Amino acid sequence: MEFDLAITDALLSTTRAVRKRLDLEKPVPREVILECIALSQQAPTGSNTQGWRWVIVDDADKRAALGELYRSGAGDYLSAAAAATPTEGQTGRVLSSAMWLMENIEKVPVLAIPCIEGRFPEGAPLAMMASQYGSIFPAVWSFQLALRARGLGSVLTTLHLMKEKETAELLGIPDGMLQVAMLPVAYTKGTDFKRAARPGAETITHWNGW
Ligand SMILES: Cc1cc2nc3c(=O)[nH]c(=O)nc-3n(C[C@H](O)[C@H](O)[C@H](O)COP(=O)(O)O)c2cc1C
Repeated sequence: MEFDLAITDALLSTTRAVRKRLDLEKPVPREVILECIALSQQAPTGSNTQGWRWVIVDDADKRAALGELYRSGAGDYLSAAAAATPTEGQTGRVLSSAMWLMENIEKVPVLAIPCIEGRFPEGAPLAMMASQYGSIFPAVWSFQLALRARGLGSVLTTLHLMKEKETAELLGIPDGMLQVAMLPVAYTKGTDFKRAARPGAETITHWNGW
């Protein structure tokens, strides 16, 4: 099989964190979400445990409740970050966009919460934590790429985890599950996202030692 590198590289380099360009009006069919979850299930997991679980929230009342939880977890953090950051530049733009998302998150048609089966104890060995998180985030990114290929956008957020317990109670998530993120998902307004400025790969790469 030969990949079309122009298309593949465009997908990998233009899948951005989308917030203000999420289309809040266009409904997202459940089949599309399931298709993207099915693709995400091809991602690797430690010892092939495949412990991915997804809680997809498209009910308006539950999204409103999640919005409240997100704001109560993110508000102080984002306000402090915004006060300490100049508005111009990449970080300033990200913060303004993150503030907008915080205020509007419940209007996004779908809120997806990826979880992984199994929590690690406090002070768990690094290898255990790496294996647990490393067994869900590859799937999360595949989900985001699959969405982008279908004209949808998303943004990986973690600030609701300040209220992880309250979220678990709201959605009936069992005790043994580890929530790792919450992704607002919607069709995007236009699909012309750009490659972001990043430092050259050679500046972050060390060959044969640091
Ligand atoms: C681990 C992680 C946590 C994040 N948490 C949040 C969050 O809570 N809220 C938010 O608006 N964006 C969050 N983001 C999105 C980042 O701000 C975004 O990925 C980054 O600014 C790069 O954006 P770009 O891909 O469009 O260049 C998070 C991203 C990652 C990888």
